[in-house]
Amino acid sequence: MFLDCITEWISSRRFKPVPIRLDSGVPASYPIPLEMGQVLLHSHYQMLQDEDRVAHFRRAIEDLITSDDIVLDIGTGSGILALLAAERARKVYAVEVDPAIAGFAARAFDASPNREKLTLFLGDAAYLRLPERVDVITCELLDTVLLNEPQVEILRLAGSRLLKPDGRFIPAYARNFVALANCSFRFYERIDLRVAHWEPTDLPSARELTPWAEYCRLTFGPDAPEGVDAQVVLRANHRGTATAVKLMTVTGFGNGDEVGPCLTMNRPLVIPIPEKLDIVPDAAYRVRLSYRFGERYQNVRCSAARL
Ligand SMILES: C[S@@+](CC[C@H](N)C(=O)[O-])C[C@H]1O[C@@H](n2cnc3c(N)ncnc32)[C@H](O)[C@@H]1O
Repeated sequence: MFLDCITEWISSRRFKPVPIRLDSGVPASYPIPLEMGQVLLHSHYQMLQDEDRVAHFRRAIEDLITSDDIVLDIGTGSGILALLAAERARKVYAVEVDPAIAGFAARAFDASPNREKLTLFLGDAAYLRLPERVDVITCELLDTVLLNEPQVEILRLAGSRLLKPDGRFIPAYARNFVALANCSFRFYERIDLRVAHWEPTDLPSARELTPWAEYCRLTFGPDAPEGVDAQVVLRANHRGTATAVKLMTVTGFGNGDEVGPCLTMNRPLVIPIPEKLDIVPDAAYRVRLSYRFGERYQNVRCSAARL
């Protein structure tokens, strides 16, 4: 299957290679570093199934892209955002690092009535060079609180090198929230699994003991910070034992639209805290969070204390 995809990709007339960073410690026999936010093919199936997610991007593309615009779609995956952008824009460049899914995008581009507008690059967006600067960058390397995918880093680089000075990003910003929560981490009275995990939207694992507080709002682009070091005060509205922080992101598209957790994006992330904390309604608690964007939840430093 994987080889079929690569063969299909290489035989595509749209093959345009871009270097790939090989410094991620992945065994040399595997051609693609797995630390760069790639997702498996079934995830692309689910992302396409997630009509809510795609609808927000579609609306932003319709609202913010004009027929004069040149667009770059970073991490094009199946090609969906590039294809939607090509319905509005003058020209669309797309880049994807994973040859398996890029094969599908290549085929979809070739079948598109807008195929003459579309150019696909295979490789790392960090090394992409274009013959011209673009008006709009679309990019869905979004992960809850910007932890596991390189959205912030890639848009810092692309924003300074590939975007016109008055260019726009879709999405435009992310707002990140934290709450103290109770999560048991214990299963069948036998297993303790104190690990960070995404909550499926329909299967909550952690009960919130405080309201959500926004701890970081970040605008994508060259001036975005590399990480966050924030403190918030949370006033409890439930009694219980806090064992975790629950993190959540709301993505803003730049057309007034925002989206929080949906099936395949911005799902709440639960991270265990070092010490359990008794939570009493109306008492105030300070939570401190620091981490670098895109460097995975292992780099999160988190503490919580009663004030
Ligand atoms: C969350 S998926 C989004 C796919 C598609 N844009 C969509 O909205 O359905 C992110 C995609 O970005 C790709 N990607 C991750 N890091 C990349 C990089 N540095 N350069 C190019 N593509 C990258 C992944 O392989 C994956 O296909």
